[in-house]
Amino acid sequence: MPNTRPTPTDPADRRKVTTKSLQRMKERGEPIAALTAYDYTMAQLLDRAGIDVILVGDSVAMVMQGRETTVAVTLDQMLYHASLVSAGVERALLVGDMPFMTYQINADEALRNAGRMVKESGVEAVKVEGGGSICETVRRIVEVGIPVMGHLGLTPQSIHRFGTYQVRATSEDEAEQIRRDALALQDAGAFAIVLEKIPASVAQAIATSLSIPAIGIGAGPGCDGQILVSHDMLGLYTRFHPRFVRRYAQLGEEMLGAFRRYVGDVKGKSFPTKDESY
Ligand code: KIV
Repeated sequence: MPNTRPTPTDPADRRKVTTKSLQRMKERGEPIAALTAYDYTMAQLLDRAGIDVILVGDSVAMVMQGRETTVAVTLDQMLYHASLVSAGVERALLVGDMPFMTYQINADEALRNAGRMVKESGVEAVKVEGGGSICETVRRIVEVGIPVMGHLGLTPQSIHRFGTYQVRATSEDEAEQIRRDALALQDAGAFAIVLEKIPASVAQAIATSLSIPAIGIGAGPGCDGQILVSHDMLGLYTRFHPRFVRRYAQLGEEMLGAFRRYVGDVKGKSFPTKDESY
């Protein structure tokens, strides 16, 4: 009997991940693993670990800049962080978030800014938040050759409109709207869609109805892949802890301990020793 189980990509397989490889992963039922990065050091560790997609998220505003929301990050700041990440990536597909108000005004401006992301920072695709109202823009960006990832459900750039980071699509009407938006983004040429903080059953139904990959964050196991903010899953950013974040390390605590030991060693004059001097 033929073995019909999907063959997961071997992390030692260093072939470049492209939008086409993600599509094939969806088709053979192999989950897509994605995380965020904002600098070279983190990016090269993720890449060595075999991550499929690295997102330079506008979450940089919160976890690196200490802001309350993602809305303030500028295009120049995203270009800067994306160029640092790009220096550390060989295998993963590199996606950059378009910051708030760099793609909503009109399609020409969106096209110009998406072009800057790709040309000046080295990302291979851009991510935009929103549904039907940005589909024309998505189509234009895709037409010039820049792959676009969509983002539906909890869309943090609209936080001031919604007022909370609570789970979305809990009403049948909102779930239906997200389903329609997902199909519209796919028709506009998006290569994948992030579904954030919506019920698992809604996300699974959307993932099944799409031919492109749906990548979940707080959207349950029925998506074609998962993404988390690296600083959340490493325990580095601890201002809040949504239940969808599994903590794979407590690096914040580890670092705090290391910094305290260093302070103690310097104050106690046990650092540096002779061996650590010239
Ligand atoms: O900015 C970000 O990190 C994101 C992920 C949460 C998907 O958009």
